[in-house]
Parts: sequence; C-alpha cells; structure tokens
Amino acid sequence: MLPAQALRRPAILTFIVLAFLLCLVSLSRSLDSHPLRVTPASPPVIPDQEQQLSNPKPQTPGRPQPGTAQSDNGEELVKPTTVNITGMVFFGRRDRVEAMNCYVERNLIENGGWLDEVLWYANTNNEEDLKFLDKIVERSPRYKKITLEKPVGWPDYTKLWRRVERGTVYVKIDDDILWLADDAIPRMVLTKLKYPDSFAVSANVINSPPLSFLHFHLGALHPYFPEREHDPTRKNHSENENWRPSSHPFWEGTSTFEWPLDKEPPSYTKHHRWLRVREDKQLYRTPAAKLTYDFWGPTYESWAIAAQQHYSLLENLEKGTTDLYKFSPPWNMQGERIRINLLAILGDDVLDTDVEHWPDDRGDEDMIVLDLPKQLQRHILIEGNALAAHYNFYHQGGLTSTDLLERYTMYAKENVCPVQPAQGQQQGQQQGQPQNQQQQQQ
Ligand SMILES: *[C@@H]1O[C@H](CO)[C@@H](O)[C@H](O)[C@H]1NC(C)=O
Ligand SMILES: *[C@@H]1O[C@H](CO)[C@@H](O)[C@H](O)[C@H]1NC(C)=O
Repeated sequence: MLPAQALRRPAILTFIVLAFLLCLVSLSRSLDSHPLRVTPASPPVIPDQEQQLSNPKPQTPGRPQPGTAQSDNGEELVKPTTVNITGMVFFGRRDRVEAMNCYVERNLIENGGWLDEVLWYANTNNEEDLKFLDKIVERSPRYKKITLEKPVGWPDYTKLWRRVERGTVYVKIDDDILWLADDAIPRMVLTKLKYPDSFAVSANVINSPPLSFLHFHLGALHPYFPEREHDPTRKNHSENENWRPSSHPFWEGTSTFEWPLDKEPPSYTKHHRWLRVREDKQLYRTPAAKLTYDFWGPTYESWAIAAQQHYSLLENLEKGTTDLYKFSPPWNMQGERIRINLLAILGDDVLDTDVEHWPDDRGDEDMIVLDLPKQLQRHILIEGNALAAHYNFYHQGGLTSTDLLERYTMYAKENVCPVQPAQGQQQGQQQGQPQNQQQQQQ
C-alpha cells in the first residue's frame, strides 16, 4: 500500500516531492517568455568622479551591455527578440536637435539602448539645418536619412507613415524632445508589447497636455517666476548658463506677486531665467496652479506654464527626484487626444489601416490617437514610467525668450553627449561652479 509505505519512508517521499517541485519551477522559468526580468538592485556605475561630487544622484549612470537597460530601481529590462525597433525623427530645427541627437545616439544598440535603426526624415529646406543633419547621420551606420521631395507640414505628415514595415516597433521622436530618460524607450516598447491590444503607447511627456495636470497634482512641479528687471544678478549671468537651478539665486519679490497667463515674456533681456521661489507653499500663486485636465486652452498655449514645467524638471534632475512624475499602471486615453511627441507603435498596426489612403484632411496625430483608436476600439496608453520632456507647442512661442534651450543643451553635453577628446579637459570647469562667477573672475 502506497500510503503505508510512504509513512514508513517519509524522508524519501519528501525528497521526491521536493525534486518534483524544483523541476516544475525550473521548467516554468524556462517557458516564461515575459520580457521584463527583475533583478536585485546593483550599485549604479559612477560615470566620473567630478560629476559624482556635484550631482550626488546622477540620473544617467553608465549603460549596461547592449540589449539590456537598467532602470533607476535596478530592474533589468530585456530587449525583445521578436521585433526590430526603429526610431523615427521628423527633423526640422537644428537648435532643438543639438541636445536631442545625443539622446538618440545613446539609445542605439551599441550604447546600451534598444534602437536597431533610426530614420531621420529631412523635413526642412534650411541649408544649415540640413548640413547639421548630415553630420549627425555620419555618426552611425544605423542612421538613415530620408530625403523628401519637399518639406511637409500638417496634415501631410501622414504620408511619412507609409514606409513603415511589419515586425518593427516604431518609436516616433519629435525633434523638440529636449530630454529623455535612459529607460524611456525600452519602457514604451515593453508596454506596447505587454498590451498588444493598445494601438500605441506614448511616453509620459513633460509639457504635454493633459499630462501636465497630472504632474502638477503628483507634486512634480515647483514654484518659479521669471526673474525681475531689478534682480541684482540679472546682468551678470552669461548666455552660457549653468543648467542647475540651485546655482542661481532665489526669486525675490512681494508675497502677492503673480504672473497672469496672458502676460508677455519679459523684454528686458534676450534670454531670461525663471528663478525658484524659496517657499514650496507659494506654488498656488505660480502659473502652473492654473493647469486643468485639458487638451487645449492655457494647458496647451501658455508659455509661462511650459516654462515652469521645464525649470521644475531641471530641479528634479538636479535633485534626483524625477520619480515624482511617474505613475503606474498605464493611463488609458480612452479615445481622447494625446500629443504624439514620443510614441511607440507597431508597423503592422499602421499597415493594417490602409495607410496609403488616410483622409487628406486629417493629420497623423488625428489618425493615430483619435480616428483609428475609435474605429478599432484600441486605445492609446501612457507609460507613466517612461519620462521625456517636450520643448514647446506653436502657441508657446514665448518659451524661446527663456534660457531653457541653452540649459537643456548644457545638461545633455554634460551628461549624455559623447565626450569629445578636446572637450574632455574642460569638463571640470562646467561642473559645480556657476558660469557667471567664472566670467566675473576672468
Ligand atoms: C529585423 O531586421 C533585420 C535586418 O533588416 C531582418 O533581417 C529581420 O528579419 C528583422 N526582424 C523582424 C522580426 O522583422
Ligand atoms: C554678480 O553676481 C554675484 C552673485 O552671483 C554677486 O555676488 C555680484 O555682486 C554680482 N555683481 C554685480 C556687478 O552685479
């Protein structure tokens, strides 16, 4: 009798049961096709000592081997082998791309990223800008320049989607994405594959309605105001600005000061700064407090709200508090509009929609986030852990009167762009010390 025998040989039975369980566990592991593996946190790779001193929590640790991306919390993201991943950049403006192309390069396979290939659509007639694009494209055999008969604008962007291929996830990257977290693209792609019924997955983009409203309520925005004409340090800081908010003075002014959303940018300086209001509690009287969950209106048009979001991001980058923006699980747009500044979409899904005959009067954003999701009842998801920053919308033109482009470019040069040998020696100068003080001493 088996039970009787087993009772007599409990040790043997326990051994057999244990061995059987172990076999089951290892079998289920080997069958597990889930692309996301969680490994215990390993200490971050320290990029260089100077940076470590001036920036105790670097946001951009050294990259691991190709195909794996390390996230902040030590989670290892494994590149899926079933699809190719192609970046798509609609290139237009050199001043934006100066920082942005460093992020694209960092996302190539060789540099620990996931992009097998990047298509650079040369969507401009400007000779200087085109020359700059040629220099970028020379930097990697994975870069392909796509020349157009003539530059396209709305709604003809749709035509650029006709050349996608099956078996490839496309990551559309606008040329005014000025900052991109290391794990943003891997996370968008993984979420797209994890939710195959989603039509596309957007990153969690800073300065992109309606997400700005979420960021405000998540506590990621901080009180800032434009520097005032009589600010004592206004005249002696340089164009070549230090990106760190803490290297600039606090904002000074009365406790009733406000900045109405219809107010034009200050005109007393070419590129003005926004300065931190000392007390966090003053957030309520700053422009961001007027944010609503909306796709148009001030949330989309106000240059001041955009500025405050960007200076807040610089502060979060400096302090290592970018987690404030994150949310999980993904936010489902349920048919409502989201901008397509940074979006992952599968080639098959585009081709299945008869992309050659998308209506002439609809832009690609209209098609991808409104019309097709509605027709197909497949929604757009926002991956809350995939962070990026988008510079400005057409109506936020006032933003160009701030020093933000210089600050983002400086951040990228310090943390992301490949270090040129000639610049290597100047590295130390860029760190820590505010530029204005150096200029003073010279
Ligand atoms: C990925 O690209 C390579 C080279 O173009 C191609 O050989 C391969 O079939 C592609 N893989 C998929 C899944 O489409
Ligand atoms: C320049 O700025 C520094 C602080 O950054 C300040 O101490 C100094 O007085 C300023 N000089 C002038 C001339 O305003």
